[in-house]
Amino acid sequence: MRTLPRPITRLFAARPITARLLTAGLLAAGSLAVPAASGAALAAGAPAGHGLARTPPMGFNDWNAFGCNVSASLVEQTALAMHTNGMQAAGYDYVNIDDCWMAGRDIPRTDPTRATAGRDADGHLVADPVYFPPSAPGRNDGIKVVADYVHALGLKLGIYQDTGRTTCQGLAGTYQGPSGATYDAIDAGDFASWGVDYVKDDWCNVPLSDVPGATRDDKANYLYTQMSQALQATGRHIVFEAATLGDPGLSTYTWAPSISNLWRTTTDISPSFSSMLNNFTVNSALAQYAGPGHWNDPDMLEIGTGGFSTLAAAAPAGTTTVLVASTSRAIVGGVIRIGTAAAGDLESAVVTSVGTAGAAGTGITVATPLTHDHPAGEQVNKDGMTLAEEQTEFTLWAQEAAPLIAGTDVVNLAPQDLAMYLNPEAVAIDQDPLGVQATVLSNADSHWVLVRPLANGDKSVVLFNAGSTPWSGASLPLDSLGLDASQRYTARDVWAHTDGTVTGALEVASVPAHGSVMVRVSSAADQLADQLALVGHVDGGSFAAQLRAAIRALDKGRTREACGALDGYVHHVRAQSGKKLRTELAAQLIANARRIEGLLGC
Ligand code: GLA
Repeated sequence: MRTLPRPITRLFAARPITARLLTAGLLAAGSLAVPAASGAALAAGAPAGHGLARTPPMGFNDWNAFGCNVSASLVEQTALAMHTNGMQAAGYDYVNIDDCWMAGRDIPRTDPTRATAGRDADGHLVADPVYFPPSAPGRNDGIKVVADYVHALGLKLGIYQDTGRTTCQGLAGTYQGPSGATYDAIDAGDFASWGVDYVKDDWCNVPLSDVPGATRDDKANYLYTQMSQALQATGRHIVFEAATLGDPGLSTYTWAPSISNLWRTTTDISPSFSSMLNNFTVNSALAQYAGPGHWNDPDMLEIGTGGFSTLAAAAPAGTTTVLVASTSRAIVGGVIRIGTAAAGDLESAVVTSVGTAGAAGTGITVATPLTHDHPAGEQVNKDGMTLAEEQTEFTLWAQEAAPLIAGTDVVNLAPQDLAMYLNPEAVAIDQDPLGVQATVLSNADSHWVLVRPLANGDKSVVLFNAGSTPWSGASLPLDSLGLDASQRYTARDVWAHTDGTVTGALEVASVPAHGSVMVRVSSAADQLADQLALVGHVDGGSFAAQLRAAIRALDKGRTREACGALDGYVHHVRAQSGKKLRTELAAQLIANARRIEGLLGC
């Protein structure tokens, strides 16, 4: 008989509910009291920001899909879509406005008043009254109007500012000068009074020679600390991002964790595999700096993002050829979306070939015939990555505890892309409360292996094939993953939603080119503890007593005794099915117990 490697005391510590159990959808129906996750991690080393962002922020940002075309109606429609399409329920709660919300965006770049139009005579920021209409003429509350709308849906609002004299688009920034004077206190006060919940503070047009500090890092730290403190002084809980754009002259991660909740580690992402790979690679080297309340941000999710275009000619139902005004960014294996949710004819299809643009061109060919008639001129959106590449981005971001910020047209999202955003098992890994960014175990020959410990003792393992041919026969010995090679484990494929049993080594038959596999590896002991967390309070703790007996036996290496306790537990659960336990829950608990019995060889 073997003894389990971990002491029994660990198994009884307060534990969060795991992805595996959450995904069964059992808690939503609410027949059980769920023990609260431990708040102990809030103590030592908590950064600025009121202990916010204990897990990576999730939400939407308009910039990558819409650029400067942001407006109150775009933000509100997006918030409503997130409210109704499942994203909000999945945890996407920030709706973030990026650059170009300030007055002045229609003033030419060459006109100096573009830079000043976004501030009034008292130095307060002014929202563009055309794109963010105030509640009444003459008021400056266009952002508050949007915040109120977003809050009424139960979502939160983010906004954008820049530490420089002007934003990256040349609008009013926070830097005032001379000698490091800033508008931070005024700007933070405005944001708080409007009801803003998240500030992304950019790094364009900073007059570095005028900023106090010996080094570039000193100067950046000086400026971002001003905003950090100003936001804290408002008393409002506002997540703060030091968006230093992956400036290669900075080591933002050395100072940002103590003053911000997240910081940009990379240059701007674009919707292509090469850009995504670049940002992932840079971010992968910074794992040690991330943790609860302070995260590396490799920029937005480009799932569903690409190039907007229009139909160059009508596309009738039944056709597989779509004539578009521009084929730019379209990619074989990616999705195109035709029509709009508003017109009621939104549909999507996978691209099989990309030809030439225009009414007389060869257009884009899709795998399945269209089901609606679409008039010429309708909107078309071409995803810039294949479905496999998009899934890889989500996998890598989740594995690296990155913010999950959708940089796409959420209102007109293709179902294939929405499904990726909503995968609760992948989201749960990103949001795991231990908050450890994966480390790179190996990356030879474009074959990456990343391992991430999870709060309940599980490990998330990702195999990512950055190469252009399939990666076959991958075999990762369990001890190389930090696991006990003498134990059997359950390997849960997070995307296929299937379980397998692992002994000795995690074997993966094939990882497609640019694809990835994400596996959650768990021991019998961890699964027992998860089960305990679910039923601990039911029926005066009688289920828990049986599970504890199994855990105790297992800890002493008495497998047969553990099997007996589990068997008794299964009988008990079955007897209470439809009584103390909902039928659906009982069925899931029994299935979980059977899987554990399988691991133990009962
Ligand atoms: C920078 C940022 C982007 C976006 C634009 C807006 O490039 O990195 O994410 O905010 O500015 O101008």
